[in-house]
Amino acid sequence: MARVYVHPLPVRIWHWLNAFGFVAMIITGVQIRYAGVIDWMSFRTAVSLHNWIGFVLIANFFVWLLFYLFTDKIKVYHPELSPTKHFKASFRQLQYYGYGIFRGDPNPHHVTAYRKFNAMQSMLYQVIMLMLVPLQAFTGLLLWDVTRFASAVQWLGGVRVVDTVHVLIFIFFVAYIPIHVYLGTLGHTPLAHFKEMFTGYLDEEDAHHAPAK
Ligand code: HEM
Repeated sequence: MARVYVHPLPVRIWHWLNAFGFVAMIITGVQIRYAGVIDWMSFRTAVSLHNWIGFVLIANFFVWLLFYLFTDKIKVYHPELSPTKHFKASFRQLQYYGYGIFRGDPNPHHVTAYRKFNAMQSMLYQVIMLMLVPLQAFTGLLLWDVTRFASAVQWLGGVRVVDTVHVLIFIFFVAYIPIHVYLGTLGHTPLAHFKEMFTGYLDEEDAHHAPAK
């Protein structure tokens, strides 16, 4: 069967480290926020794990960023500059997920090595990777040592503001991960897209029927 090489090795390493790291950050983050209510581990262990994994994820983010900045694969993240085209394609994709997929319609997006994301993915992944992940890392870094970063924290409106932004983005990721995983099961077999993130190759059937995450 013909296959399309869509995920180079650095992207795959970044992705799985990031995925496990995010799950661990959510578990330890919940423990930190609900200390006294939830007792999965000691508060001290949760804080220490949250800090260490946080630094690993920040370093890992640069694997993703530098890979895309220094290779021509950055093209997969180039946005569609015509709003009409972009929103029409997004609407077609949404219609497919909400309705077409249940009738067995083909996926409107055709994947190639340099166009692996559909309109919804290309918009969402940019917002996640260029806004939400950096903002989450930055607010996390400030909260890690509020004394050292006192002037920045103060300038942003105080610990409450920084913490609220950190928690709101956390809530976004708690909602995002199950939806991302669900959409990941919509390949030609339920595991096809997960295998793709391990092997780097998208099966030919999914080049024509690949879902958005
Ligand atoms: C927790 C379990 C997760 C699973 C099982 C999973 C699964 C997948 C799969 C199968 C793909 C490949 C298909 C595609 O191109 O969309 C993918 C891509 C992607 N995922 Fe995840 N994911 C997980 C967590 C996350 C998290 C936490 C984030 C972000 C914070 C994330 C961000 C992304 C991005 C940005 C891509 C596209 C990567 C690229 O090609 O540049 N994923 N994911």
